[in-house]
Amino acid sequence: MRNATDNLDTRAWQEMDRRHHFHPFTDHKSLHRKGSCVITRADGVYLWDSEGRKILDGMAGLWCVNVGYGRRELADAAHAQMLRLPYYNTFFQTTHPPVTELARRLSEIAPARLNHVFFTNSGSEANDTVVRMARHYWAVRGQPERRIIISRDNAYHGSTMAGASLGGMGVMHAQGGLPIPGIEHIAEPYWYKHGGTRSAEAFGRDCARALERKIDELGAARVAAFIAEPIQGAGGVIVPPSSYWPEIARICREREILLVVDEVICGFGRTGKWFGSDYYGLEPDLMPIAKGLSSGYLPIGGVMVANRVAEALIGDGGEFFHGFTYSGHPAACAVALENLRILCDERLVERVEQDIGPYFQDRLRELLDHPLVGEIRGVGLIAAIQLTADKSTRKLFEPVGAAGNRCRDHCFDNGLVMRAVEDSMVISPPLIIRHAEVDELLDKARAALDRTAGDLRI
Ligand SMILES: Cc1ncc(COP(=O)(O)O)c(C=O)c1O
Repeated sequence: MRNATDNLDTRAWQEMDRRHHFHPFTDHKSLHRKGSCVITRADGVYLWDSEGRKILDGMAGLWCVNVGYGRRELADAAHAQMLRLPYYNTFFQTTHPPVTELARRLSEIAPARLNHVFFTNSGSEANDTVVRMARHYWAVRGQPERRIIISRDNAYHGSTMAGASLGGMGVMHAQGGLPIPGIEHIAEPYWYKHGGTRSAEAFGRDCARALERKIDELGAARVAAFIAEPIQGAGGVIVPPSSYWPEIARICREREILLVVDEVICGFGRTGKWFGSDYYGLEPDLMPIAKGLSSGYLPIGGVMVANRVAEALIGDGGEFFHGFTYSGHPAACAVALENLRILCDERLVERVEQDIGPYFQDRLRELLDHPLVGEIRGVGLIAAIQLTADKSTRKLFEPVGAAGNRCRDHCFDNGLVMRAVEDSMVISPPLIIRHAEVDELLDKARAALDRTAGDLRI
């Protein structure tokens, strides 16, 4: 099916976009100087723009198109569901088959003890729900003063008021008077940047113990929860040292605070396990999900709730005054169910663990011989190439991002989407990426690194 405007050329799209479209996370003055890149179609791991250029999508959209583009099964699932029941709400003691079936299915694949799902439309809404739920849980348990949620610097938990507050991005806090009250932050376990002379393991333990110190400073009786991504994604793919998570889990257990593991990026196979929690052996009390749940084909997210929390909320919580018109939207649920079927039938998660993930990680580590590359971090099909001004001292570039942004632009000019977070090049391709496509990605990444080094005269 064609749209009436399909025959517009690139300039016409750019002009319309400039006049009317206010983009997320965009400096519009700079965008308008260049003009938007108009993506018109996609298939597998590739995108095409309005000039007919083919681009390898090393980011799976925004870390979400896990099963790749062009999946007719997902379009068919949405189509069939829209004809049968396009919409009904789940507020007023009603349900419908796709939402109920999806909740059951998620309970089967999630870590044990997580057997209930509250549905949202996005990861940000999931994290807003976390704040409401965690505080309500403690109120129901007779400890209403437990309201503080501890998060980390440079974390990303979304862009709503609560999501951005939980996040640790200073530039986001600076707009809109954030964080909201009752959110505290501790240091991130980013060894390359902050580790100094400590070993990665010693640094990881210190970062975890910052949680203990923060709880003591605030008083455990005031702390509701700790929230973290298993691997920080948007912060630059920060893979914590192996000492970090066991220590965090111990502290949450001993201090009896809820552990919230944000699986919006790590969930649904990205690490080679179904969830980052499986990869690190974590037992979350609340687990926000989104992105890979539907591979981005329709918006859907949620919070998975552990039994002890669900039992308290269901048994003693009364009405939970929270929800969205589209919580558990039938078409989004039908697409998510079909997406989970594809992940299972094609054994994509196992493939990431045993085949393509190790291949990708090994090939990436070949870049360590490049003068700009200080570290390769990654697990499964998520990784970062850390650029450095001096390998021996782990010196970062000044100004921050100067090298990363150049490298990103060289990648894009050469037909590869790789994002820059400061001077880390982050990569998260669709889980269906083939070996030859990984090779292409690596060739293009190396060429971009060479050009960046040439620009910087390194
Ligand atoms: C870990 C994490 N949590 C939450 C979000 C927010 O999700 P959304 O953009 O769907 O609101 C993101 C988005 O990138 C994320 O990476």
